[in-house]
Amino acid sequence: MILLILLEGGFLKNNLIIAIDGPGASGKGTISKLVSKKLNMFHLNSGSIYRALALMVNQKGVEHNDFPAIISFAKSLSLKNLDSPELKRDDIAILASKISENPRVREALLDFQRSLGARPPFGKGIIIEGRDIGTVVFPNAQIKIFIDADIEIRADRRYKDLKKINDNIELEDVKNQLIERDNRDYNRTTSPLRPAENAHLLNTSKLDIEQCCSVVCGIIEEHSAKNNNKCYID
Ligand code: DC
Repeated sequence: MILLILLEGGFLKNNLIIAIDGPGASGKGTISKLVSKKLNMFHLNSGSIYRALALMVNQKGVEHNDFPAIISFAKSLSLKNLDSPELKRDDIAILASKISENPRVREALLDFQRSLGARPPFGKGIIIEGRDIGTVVFPNAQIKIFIDADIEIRADRRYKDLKKINDNIELEDVKNQLIERDNRDYNRTTSPLRPAENAHLLNTSKLDIEQCCSVVCGIIEEHSAKNNNKCYID
């Protein structure tokens, strides 16, 4: 499918921000990556910011509750910290979920996310994915989407992904870790995972990646049309 979207004027002059939230392995990462490429937008996975912080904590041997140290690491993060292949590790995902419960840690990461949203390094705006993007980080994002999928489907996707880097992985363990992380992410007091009031809801359980991207592009096209921008999808 050739997708040609002419994004000009209107909301793009003010820097289009698309907020995509949802639980782990819901498909939001793959969808955000593909759609941002098609639309020439900068893609930021805010989960990788929390993972990069967790990796620093892990590598520097800092206690998980040494928040003054963790906050000073948070303030030193830059885009180059978000590239490490180690961010995929499942122990790092769990640690990221744990340290992200702390309100001061979340607060310390807000500026980094917001300054990238205000001035993306390239592209015509930003697609930023995470847990609290539409509710807390960018409550005024022009487009908000909440992506979810059934736990069995998510576990299977994450299992296949992790299997590529770790052969000793069990589906049941991956599923239990996702459930544990969901519980923490949905139930924490500060910035819990939930759809913003005005978010579009997308359940990807029965859709393939092409179909998911089509739905998301449709939402953007509709927004674009309402804002008098030209938007063509072939
Ligand atoms: O999206 P991910 O699986 O890479 O995220 C890892 C953890 O980081 C997730 O379990 C919770 C935390 N996180 C968060 O609290 N807020 C975000 N906006 C993104 C991630």
